[in-house]
This record gives sequence, C-alpha cells and structure tokens, in this order.
Amino acid sequence: MCGIVGYIGTQAATEILLSGLEKLEYRGYDSAGIATIWEGEVNCIKAKGKLHNLRSKLEQLENPSSIGIGHTRWATHGKPEEHNAHPHLDMTGRVAVIQNGIVENYRELREELKQKGYEFRSETDTEVIPHLIAEYLKNPPFPPLPSSPSPFLEAVRQAVNHLNGAFALAIISADYPDELIAVRQQAPLVIGFGQGEFFCASDTPAIVAYTRAVLPLDNGEIARLTPLGVEIYNFAGDRLKKQPRMLNLSPTMVEKQGFKHFMLKEIYEQPGVVRANLEAYFHNSSDNNQSPVNLGLSESIYADLEQIHIVACGTSWHAALVGKYLLEQLAEIPAQVHYASEYRYAPSPLTPNTLIIGVTQSGETADTLAALAMEKERRQGQEAKYQARLLGITNRPESSLGHMVTNIISTLAGIEIGVAATKTFIAQLMAFYALALDLAARRQTIPKETIEQIINGLRRIPQEIEETLASQERLTEHLAHEFADTQDFIFLGRGINFPIALEGALKLKEISYIHAEGYPAGEMKHGPIALLDAKVPVVAIAVPGSVYEKVISNAQEAKARDSRLIGVTPVKDGEAAEIFNDLLPVSSVDELLSPILTVVPLQLLAYHIAARRGLDVDQPRNLAKSVTVE
Ligand code: F6R
Repeated sequence: MCGIVGYIGTQAATEILLSGLEKLEYRGYDSAGIATIWEGEVNCIKAKGKLHNLRSKLEQLENPSSIGIGHTRWATHGKPEEHNAHPHLDMTGRVAVIQNGIVENYRELREELKQKGYEFRSETDTEVIPHLIAEYLKNPPFPPLPSSPSPFLEAVRQAVNHLNGAFALAIISADYPDELIAVRQQAPLVIGFGQGEFFCASDTPAIVAYTRAVLPLDNGEIARLTPLGVEIYNFAGDRLKKQPRMLNLSPTMVEKQGFKHFMLKEIYEQPGVVRANLEAYFHNSSDNNQSPVNLGLSESIYADLEQIHIVACGTSWHAALVGKYLLEQLAEIPAQVHYASEYRYAPSPLTPNTLIIGVTQSGETADTLAALAMEKERRQGQEAKYQARLLGITNRPESSLGHMVTNIISTLAGIEIGVAATKTFIAQLMAFYALALDLAARRQTIPKETIEQIINGLRRIPQEIEETLASQERLTEHLAHEFADTQDFIFLGRGINFPIALEGALKLKEISYIHAEGYPAGEMKHGPIALLDAKVPVVAIAVPGSVYEKVISNAQEAKARDSRLIGVTPVKDGEAAEIFNDLLPVSSVDELLSPILTVVPLQLLAYHIAARRGLDVDQPRNLAKSVTVE
C-alpha cells in the first residue's frame, strides 16, 4: 500500500525520487521520506503528512547525490508520525531501508536484535530490517556465498531469508555507495532500465517519465542495481537471466490533462474504456456454433462447468455482484460472490467443476490473492474434476494476480490514479458481460438473436455514457451544492441495480466522508426505514424492467417519511418523474445493460459533493489504491 522508488545513476537523485513519489502518492500518503548517500553518509529526510511537506524540507538542502530511495507511507504498524516514516536506518545510520508490505515475524526478530544490543526508534515492523542487515554485515549466520559479487548483497540476501511476510524493499548503504538492492516477496516491484541509470518502483507511473524499459520482479527475487547495470538473483543466491520489456504507457497518461482531479478525468474516460473492451473481446460471428466473444481463455475454463465462486473486495466485489446476476440469468450457472477476506478463512465446501474468479483492478489486493492461493492449494492433488480452475479479472495483467493465474481477462481501462475506482469498475462490468455472453453462447442458454441484441445494446453504451455525462455534469454539481452538508444518504436499487446502489454509497463515503448505505430497495421496510426523515435523502435507481414498479413503490415509502428523493432513471415524465424531488436522468437503456449507465451519475454526484466540501478527491483520508496487506 506504500509506494517505494529507488534511483542509481548520474543525475541528482532527490528530484527523481520526489517526482516518482508524486506518481505513487495514491498508494499511501500519511508520511514520506527519502535517503541518499552523500559524502560517505546516509542522508535521511522525512516528513509527516503529504509529500509537499517533504518537498518543502528538501528544498532548503543542497544534495547532488546520484543514489537514493524514497517512500510514501500508508501506516500499518505505528501511527503516521515522522519517527515511523520510512526510510528506517540501522543504529550506525549506514544502512537505509524502505518497505511496502509487512514483516510478519518482526516481533521475534526485534526481541533477538534487542538482546544483541540493537535499539529501536520506531514502532514499525520495517525497522528490524536495517538492524538485521547491519548485524549480518558483521556476523553472517551462514558463510557468504563465494559467487556473491558483494558483501552488501549477501547480507541482504541472508536477511530476507529470515523475514516472513509479503514485502518489497529497497536498500542502500553508505559503505556500498554504488549499490542499490531491491527485493520482491509478494508485493509489487518493477526495475527500470535507463541509459547509465536504473530505477526500482512499486508501480510503473513512478518511472515512466525516465524509461519505458522495465522488468517486473517475481516473488523471491533480488535485484542489485549499480551504475553499470542490473543483476537479478533468487533468494538462494543463483543469478537469473531476465530481459526487460517495453511499457505501453506514456508519461501523459499519468497526468490530469486539464481536469481538476484524476477521478473526474477517469469518469470521462469511461466511454473509451467500454469501446476498448468491445473492440478487444466482441466480434460479429456469422458462424452459428461460435461464440461472438473471444476472451482468449483456455478451453479448460469452460469444460463441464457446474458452478462459479467469485472472490473480490470493495468496488470489485460490487462488480462481481453484477457478474453473478449476469452469469446466472444469461448463462444459467449458479454463481456465488464472496468477500475475499472472509472466504479465505471460511471457504465453501469443495465442489467439482467449479470456476473460481478473482476480481481485482490492481491485481495486488492481499485478501483476493490469498483467497485464490488457498483455493489452488486445497485443490492440489484432488481428482481431475476438483482441480483448481482459476480466472483473474484485472486491470493490471502484469500484477501479482497475473503471475499467479494463467487465465486472465484484462479490463483495458488504462492506468487509474484516483483512489476511488471508477473506470476500472465499468471495465470489470464489461468483463462480466463478455464472460456471461460467452458462456451463454457456448451453453446455448439463450437464443443467438438475443445475444446479438445484447451485444448491439453494448455497442450503443459508449455514446449513452457520453450523453449521460453531458447532461449530468451541471445537475450533479447543482445537487452537490445542496447536499454538501448532508450527513447521511441512502441508496436504493433492486435486481441488477442493487450492486450499483452499494457502489454509489461506497463512492460517496470514500471521498466525501458522508455516511451512506446502499440497500436492496425491498429491504428498507425491514429495518433501515427507521433511519429516514427529512434530513436523510434517498437516491433510488429506477430503470424500467422487471423491478421498476417495485422500486417506485419503495421510493414512495421513503418519500412518505419525508426523505428527499433523487431518481436515477431514464423516465423524464409521468408518475415516476413526479414522485422524485430531483432527477438524474440516464439514457433509455435495456435493464440488463443499465448498471454501466446508472453508476455514472452516482460517481459524478460523489465527486461533486467531495469537491464542494473541499476534500482531497484523489487521495481520500485513510485509503490506498492497492491494499497489499490483510
Ligand atoms: C473503491 C475502491 C476499493 C477497492 C478495493 C479492492 O473505490 O477502490 O474499495 O475496490 O480495495 O481493490 P482491487 O480492485 O484493486 O482489488
């Protein structure tokens, strides 16, 4: 969840590290720090709060060092105070370490080190690492490997073999000023190759301004960066041969391009995201026996499929709920959706011919990865029909999920910087439409003509989102003005739009810090209706179709309790329009496809309320873009 960046080369490191951290700030932003080596010493500067605090401190210092590491933190162990900020140093101040992740056995290591006389200055798990490296530089527990090119690398290698957990590290030492060591163990880390300069970072946006040649490290790998090049080793110390690849990302893709916030830019990118997915996965099939969807998955995914379990968190879990609806209603496959954090400790009984889908935009969410790993492990050695059949849906196919799972649907949303997921959610919906239609075509659960109609409807969606955006911007801005001081919101939906009510509520609470709840509209009268009065507005998603009349009646019930009613609906006149106090009209669309449209005004409403309240929309408090801890 933290962001790490490292540089070794010929230019001054500080500015490169700071600009890298700016691009990683979405990963964590409660404190930041950098360490460089200058005149034989580690120079470490840290600041509490956002990155600009660190920048102001550094502006007063002249430091031409050309090696350094930088960190932006999302607190796990220890409060967001300066003494807990990274980098952490050993007692002599000669080894500096930054970490993204968690060292699970840090308590026992800390006790061992304390007994040897090491003093700790922070409450973090990370601080054991520089002490351990300093100790192993003096007293290695095992004889150093004769093949190792450097005692520093060897001490780091032996130290990481003693760490349990999921972590990515970058380490420098004043005694080895031409070496930067980077380690990956179940937390993302990418190495960048420039001309006579080399980088490491938690994510590619941090280095794309300098190089597009990158090598994502695999778990259990250590990279030794020197001004001459990069060597990769495994934890046993064997040297590995690996080649960088070229990134398909340009520096402008990680800029706001005239929008006030990344989130708004990303909301406006959604028509393009839908188009990209349509082009990549849907084609016009004239062959009656062929599926009009090509996801490039192996045939083993489909064979004798009996049921589906989906694991995900947060917004991805909401996309999975829409997915369940589609898989069951279109392809007639029983599907269950689980919170990954719950499923990993209480999985469903083993069932045969079961597809397990992990949905995660970042591909790094620890709980989702752990749930998939658990499934893989418990199905190992079972008879063929019980073997793990895993599918990943992610926006980052190069992520840890991509390393773990062979069959991936890449959601083609492009990089998302705003912490609140918007365009990646719509892209996940597209993946589920594609998968459900693919399965429906293969299993012939609905007529070919119906499938064609649905795909034609999907092809109209980009324009319909554009129309919705054009009509909503002013309306939602206006409503935001009126609701900026509201304290509670209720979102109602039914059927395929119930998950959109949940998503609308989540978006609002994440970025505006207003309490909001999403409910299936029919559930209101079983308890939550007690919350309603004139101070609690209700947003109801009412799309003509199977549950339209029901949602309207549920909305009426809320209105009878004095709630102000906001309708997300394609209906502009008639009874429906009359009962709503405010309308957020969406284009007229088939109920089955409506979630891709109805979510858009809810994203805009949350955005404008948060912006109106003067909040940091792209980096809301306490949140991080990839949640790499349990
Ligand atoms: C909501 C949000 C989070 C994520 C959740 C899962 O806007 O961003 O709720 O959806 O942390 O993240 P991924 O999809 O990366 O697994």
